[in-house]
Formats: sequence, structure tokens, C-alpha cells
Amino acid sequence: RARLVVLVSGSGSNLQALLDAATDPRFPAEVVAVGADVPDAYGLERAAGADVPTFVVEPSAYADRAAWTDALADAVAAHEPDWVVCAGFMRILGAAFVQRFAGRIVNTHPALLPSFPGAHGVRDAMAYGVKVTGCTVHLVDEGVDTGPILAQASVAVRADDDEPSLHERIKTVERELLVETVAALAAHGCTVTGRKVTIP
Ligand code: GAR
Repeated sequence: RARLVVLVSGSGSNLQALLDAATDPRFPAEVVAVGADVPDAYGLERAAGADVPTFVVEPSAYADRAAWTDALADAVAAHEPDWVVCAGFMRILGAAFVQRFAGRIVNTHPALLPSFPGAHGVRDAMAYGVKVTGCTVHLVDEGVDTGPILAQASVAVRADDDEPSLHERIKTVERELLVETVAALAAHGCTVTGRKVTIP
């Protein structure tokens, strides 16, 4: 099975979906480690609950961003991942990290990219007044949420939505999309031509 290292900063419900999927031995990937940038990320407890090793690499422990990036990349590399999955990881990975795992980093984002990149995809889409938003699973390049798109799913915005209610509906769809996409990548890999990604 393909080896996944999953990076989280928060609740880790997307991580949980991967952990649950991987309990089926026919699922083509397994979570071999979970890393976080903050020690209190609940995702770390989910990992521990599934007997998956964890690591924390906090920016405050390093002199600068480059040093933190290298330390994070070393911690990830120690688990020999085939794929690195950012599942609610709220920091931008430095160029050195992206180059080290080039073409093998996946991110999930709670908006239909290229609209509403960044840390507040749900809030920004609501503030804009869109009637349809959703989620995007994409490969990570050196930009912020700019990498080639692997999969998207749409979610309708309701008149009475607030940010938490909309985000919760997006996450329900997002978990399924992430699991499906990671399974396809793990089983078949992908070919990138310019911006277009094909999973054979
Ligand atoms: C997810 O909706 C993910 O797309 C988003 O954080 C949430 C994490 O939920 N990520 C970003 O906004 C990245 N810019 P989870 O911790 O329950 O998986």
C-alpha cells in the first residue's frame, strides 16, 4: 500500500476519513505518520487513537521559516512517504519542502479554486456572495493553493448559512472527495501536463 504522511493543524476530520478508509486492507494507501505545526491539534489525538506515530514541528522552535521548512521536511521524509497529504494544514510549505516531495504533495481546500485561495476560503466565498462553492483537492506547487487540480465538488450556499454551517457541509463532501482522490493516486499515480492532471 502507498505510504501517506498526513499534515494537520486542527480537528483532523479529513485525516479521520483517511484513517477510517485505510482500516479496509483493500484501500490502496495507509497513513504511516501524522505531523502537525501545533502540539494541540486534535488530529494528533486521532492519529494516536489509530496507533499511528505523530510528530510536531513548531515554527517557534526554529530561527526562521527556511529552518522550520527543512525540519518539517526531514520529519516527513523519515517516514518515507509516497504521498504527503495536507489535511487542514494551515501553513504554507516553503519551496524547499515542495521541491523535496515534488508532485507528491496533495492539499484539500474548502473552496472551488482558483476562487478563494488562502486561509479563509469559506468566509471569503460567503463574503463575495457566491451561491455555489465547494472543495478542491489539488497538487501542491510553490504558490498558495495554485497547484494543478485533481478533483472538485460543489456545495450550494443556503440563504441562512453562516461560516460554520457552510464549512460543515463542505467538509462532509470534502472528506469523501479526499479519500476517493487519494485512493486513485495511490493506486494509479498521476501524470501532469502543464496545469492538467490525469489519473490513469
Ligand atoms: C478543511 O475544510 C480544509 O479544507 C481546510 O481546513 C479544514 C480542516 O478540517 N483547509 C484550509 O482551509 C487550508 N487553507 P479538518 O481539520 O476537520 O480536516
